[in-house]
Order: sequence, then C-alpha cells, then structure tokens
Amino acid sequence: MDLDVFMMFSSIAGVLGMPGLGNYAAANAFLDALAHQRRAQNLPATSVAYGVWEGEGMAAGLTGRTTLTHLAKFGLDPLKPEEGLKLLEQTIRGGRALTVAAALDPERLRIYLKNEHAERGGIPSFYSKLLSEQERNGSCNEPRNSGRAGNLRTKLSKAPAGQHEAIVLAMVRETVAKALGFTSAGQVDVDIPLQDIGFDSLTAVLLRNRLSALTSLKTLSAGSITWQYPNLRSLSHFLLSQIQSEAQAQSKQSCSVSDHTRKQSVNSTTYTMEAARKGHLDPDIAFDNIEEAQRPRSVFVTGATGFVGAFILRELLELGIAAHCLVRAEGVKHGQQRLVESLASYDLWKHDYAPLLTPVVGDAAKPLFGLTNVAFDDLANRVDAICHSGALVDWLRPLNDYIGPNVISTHEVLRLASRGRGKAVHVISTLATLPMHMGYDVPEHDREYGYSTSKYIAERMVAAARWRGARASVYRVPFVAASAATGHFRVDRGDFLHNLIAGSIQMGSFPSLDADLSVVQPVDYLSKTVVAIMVHDRSRIGHDFDFVNKHAVSCNHFFQLMGGDDAGTLLPFHEWQLRALAYAAAHPKSALARIGTIIDGLADESALAAMLKGLPTGEHVLGGDVYPAPLVDEQLARHYRDRIDMFNSDGPISSLEPGKME
Ligand SMILES: NC(=O)c1ccc[n+]([C@@H]2O[C@H](COP(=O)([O-])OP(=O)(O)OC[C@H]3O[C@@H](n4cnc5c(N)ncnc54)[C@H](OP(=O)(O)O)[C@@H]3O)[C@@H](O)[C@H]2O)c1
Repeated sequence: MDLDVFMMFSSIAGVLGMPGLGNYAAANAFLDALAHQRRAQNLPATSVAYGVWEGEGMAAGLTGRTTLTHLAKFGLDPLKPEEGLKLLEQTIRGGRALTVAAALDPERLRIYLKNEHAERGGIPSFYSKLLSEQERNGSCNEPRNSGRAGNLRTKLSKAPAGQHEAIVLAMVRETVAKALGFTSAGQVDVDIPLQDIGFDSLTAVLLRNRLSALTSLKTLSAGSITWQYPNLRSLSHFLLSQIQSEAQAQSKQSCSVSDHTRKQSVNSTTYTMEAARKGHLDPDIAFDNIEEAQRPRSVFVTGATGFVGAFILRELLELGIAAHCLVRAEGVKHGQQRLVESLASYDLWKHDYAPLLTPVVGDAAKPLFGLTNVAFDDLANRVDAICHSGALVDWLRPLNDYIGPNVISTHEVLRLASRGRGKAVHVISTLATLPMHMGYDVPEHDREYGYSTSKYIAERMVAAARWRGARASVYRVPFVAASAATGHFRVDRGDFLHNLIAGSIQMGSFPSLDADLSVVQPVDYLSKTVVAIMVHDRSRIGHDFDFVNKHAVSCNHFFQLMGGDDAGTLLPFHEWQLRALAYAAAHPKSALARIGTIIDGLADESALAAMLKGLPTGEHVLGGDVYPAPLVDEQLARHYRDRIDMFNSDGPISSLEPGKME
C-alpha cells in the first residue's frame, strides 16, 4: 500500500519503563521498534510515545488512582487533549521514527529515581544519561547549566554592542529550532507571532527552560514568553535588555545591596517611581550601550506638539531624519493628526515629511511613558538620539503638578537612553533653574517655585546619568520669542513676553526699561542650534548649555521696533503700569489682562528689568560667540508684528486662554 503516514500510538512506558507496567512497556516498545524497522526499509512509520492524557482515557481506566499518583511522582503530568493533538502534529512534521510526547518534569524524575535507587547505587545509568541530556538541552526546571549562560554573557561582553542583538537573536532562533523540531535555525521566522511558529503552552515551557539555562535569567515565565512578545525578535530584545540590566546591576552594586533591591533590579516593571519623583535615578539605569555618537538617523522627540518641540521636529524632518514623537492621543491616527496640525499651525508642515514621522502614543508623566515593556524596548532599539522638549511649561502651580510631566518624563527618557541602541540625550530646560544652580533658595511662595524646581530636579537627574556614562546635554532656554524668519509665535496659550508685547501694541504704549534682551531668543534660532549640535556638532554633546545673547539690543530699542510708526510712546514704567492695569480692567480678555496679576505684582521698573536681564551663566554659553543669536532688527520686528496683526484679524489675542507665563 502506498502510504504517506503510518502512525502508531505507543507509550512513554516503552521508552522509560514504568513502575508496575512492565507488560505494557514491552508491548509499546514493540510498536516503537516496528517504526524503526519500517523506516530502515524506507517505509513510512512514526511512533508517538505518549505520556499520560488528561480526562477519562486509558490512563484513568487502566491505572487507577494510586498509580496516577505514582506517575506524578515519576515526573509525568497529564497532557491536555489539545496539547496531545498539537504534539501529534509536530511528531508527524518532525519526521522521526519515534517521538516521545509527554509532560515530563526531569527534576521530579531525578528526585524519584534518587529515592527509589538510593540503596542500589543511585540513578541507573540509562536515566542519568537521559537526565544529563536534559540538562545539556537546558530543559530542566532549575537551569543548572550556568556554563552555557556564562558562554553567552562572555560572548556578549567580547562582542561590540552593535552585534549584541544579532547574537541573542541567533541564540533564540537556534533554541526554538531545537525545541520545535526544525531542521535549521534559518527556518524559524522571527517576525511572526509565536503561535504561528507552532508554540503552545507546553513548548513554551520547554523554551522557557532552555532560555533560562542559556541566559541564566530566572524571571522568565512560559506564559509571558508566549503571550507578551509579539514575535521572537521582540523576545530577544527583551532578553538582551534583561541580561544587560542584570550585568549592570551586578557590576554596579556592591555586596551591601540588599536581596530586596536585587530582586527589584531584575524585574524592570517592578521598580517604584517614588524615588524618581524625588529626583533619584533608578540604580538600574546605566549606559553601557553608549558608543561614539553617529549622525542620528532616527530621533525620539517629546513635546513635538508644543511650541519649541514643533520647530525642533521640523528641523529634524528637513534634514531627512526620522522622528518618533511621543504624543498624547486617542490612537496612532489621532497622534499623527495632532503632530501634523501642530506643525501646520506654524507653517512648518510639508507632505514630504509624512514617511519620516511616527507617532508614539503615550504619556510622558507615566513610567515607560505608559507603553508596555516590549514597546518601550522596541522604541529603544529604533532611535539613536532623544530630544526631550515635552514639559508642563507655566508658572503658578504647586510643585506636585510638575513632577509627572517634568521629572518622571526626564527619568523615563534617561531609562530609554540606557536601553537598546546607544543614544545621546538632549533635554530642553530653562534658564529659570540658574538661581538654584547658583545656590539661591527659591522659596515655595515664589511663583516660579514649582516649575523651576521641577526642571532643576530633572537637570540633576541628567547630571547623574552623565556620571554613569550617558551622553547627555541640557539646553537652558531663555524666553522663547517668535520665529525670526516668520514671526510665528505660540498661538495656543501665549506667554508672558508675548502678552506684554502684543498687549502693549494694542494699548499703544510700551514701558521704558533699562534692560537688554539677552534672555530673549527666537524659537527658530533655538531649535536650529539644538539640532545642529545633535546632528552635526556632536563633539559638543555632553555639556549643559545656557542660551544667552551677549550682543543683545536694549529692550527700548526692541519695543520701538515692535511699535513701528504708530508705536505710541515709551512711557516711564509706573505710568505704563497704571495704564496697563486700567486697560486690562476695561478689556478683561486682552493680552494685558492675561498677565495683569504679574504686572500688578511688579514693585518697580527693576523688577521687570530683572525678569528680562538674566543671570550669570555656566561654562558653556550659546548665543554669543558660539552659535550667535540673530540680530533683533527691523525685519524681525516686522515679521512678528505682521503675524500679531494677522492673528488679531483671524482670532483676537483676547481669545487666548490664561496659563502660559514663561
Ligand atoms: N516657551 C518658553 O518660553 C520656554 C522658556 C524656557 C524653557 N522652555 C522649555 O522648552 C521646552 C518646550 O517648551 P514649549 O514652550 O514648547 O512648551 P509647550 O508649547 O507648552 O509644549 C509642551 C509640550 O509638552 C507636551 N507634554 C506635556 N505634558 C506631557 C505629557 N504628560 N505627556 C506627553 N507630552 C506632554 C505637550 O503635549 P500636549 O500638546 O499634549 O499638551 C507639548 O507638546 C520645555 O522643556 C520648557 O521647559 C520653554
């Protein structure tokens, strides 16, 4: 008869022998032998030697309760019918004469045999061969083969970081090929769901055991392997990040680290964010992945729907650099729409940018940005630089409001930088932190306390990350003024300086101020400078930069330019203050009304001048000799004024909602 398949159902009893089942074992061993004989004659034959099946089948009927308990001690657990059928399919596909299909726990078998044969010289050699085979294959529950794990780790430590992913992926592939009976690792598709490769709960356990032995990671669970990772590529990303974080924790932490902390470090999802809220960088975050900074091809951007972030994003896209943008949205489509609308509102959007733009829907204030571990690691492997411009940017709120968006966000940005590909970090901050760097106490009742303290804490975390090896820069940005090229200013909320200028134009007079505009710089200049360092001038990366225009014009000159021909007059400060407050009271939705409380709180001209004057800066200053700021000239003022006029005719300044003050 011309057969494709000649299938026999035998029993594991024929292979392993079974207490009290000698006859049954012999009969089944015959079936297995027949399969071998037929194969030797080039005839089809497959014998599947099953373990115990769950339910009311033969095992339950023939053996009775006592023997089932006995079998359990022997290491045999019942197979679910669906598992049995799946194994049948794999047996046929596997193409071997004999396949044992059983849920066998080698460790229980070892214990059973040790006890049974204690007085007869220990485990019989037949079994010990099998059990040491199991160990070599890494299929014992308690992985003992630390030598192989050691090999993998040694291999990784000797290879350049850029090859780590490939090494772990190859190891995973080979392991899966063995576990599922593929003839070569190349046959294992690493980009399709695990279930489609042939994984089920049983083979997932097998894989878990083998991977545990190979990696010596003890936290792998069969369930998470099968269900948490969309494919083998993601699974190997995860394994590599776990191996790296364990290695980092081991090298970093001295013996004094408690077991409790050690356990926490193993599982990255169990860390507490309480310490991060206070500005402590997770001890597991380290930057062994950092390499020579290459020109980034793909950048993770936060805050791209904001004023500064939109201009930064546009600079990157214009250079052909892909951007993965964190955005709060109801889904990817909505995220894309928000990003495009934001760029379009500043006339920065081009359709050519679309293929370069990828929204990452999440929340910067949440651990891992609210992403799953897998998605977070995936992102970490896709980008080779980070620009963190996202923040809650205003004054007047309690510190607690700023912790999530400003502190946790920076913490998670640094965590992202520590994982996957090595990447430089660029954090946008504010000159408002300078008093704290200089050692001044910013009291809690100060209107800037919450915002500037949160940004200061974030900057300290960046410094801690740098100390651990991160390649990170902080850019302390001054008052961000309208674009020098187009006059576009922040349309949604406005800010203090913009409201002062727009309101003074409306009212017809500016305050006369003895100050210069050293801490006021156009948004397009700032974003171009940050991107230039990120992309072209990478040797500068690693410093904290203060943006200050050392060649700034005087405020009075700028106000006159902004006022144009019908500028009205420059009034002495007190006179202007009284008029401004009266105007604000008469026009409660005007720009001046929005900053009325601040104007009211200014004791004299010097208080306003101090806001615009700035402070002594740190070592690395941008805007003077290095990356000089653009001239504030007639043309710049005209662009800005035209844009204000255009905005007033479309939608009056009075429609701005209150909030922004920086
Ligand atoms: N503007 C200034 O005058 C000025 C001055 C000095 C320093 N800075 C610094 O410059 C950076 C950018 O400021 P900006 O003026 O561009 O601010 P912005 O216009 O208010 O933009 C803030 C951005 O952060 C995002 N964001 C806030 N909380 C978030 C969260 N929990 N999850 C995800 N995204 C979140 C916002 O997203 P949504 O669109 O979803 O709200 C928005 O894209 C900040 O670091 C700020 O401290 C600004």
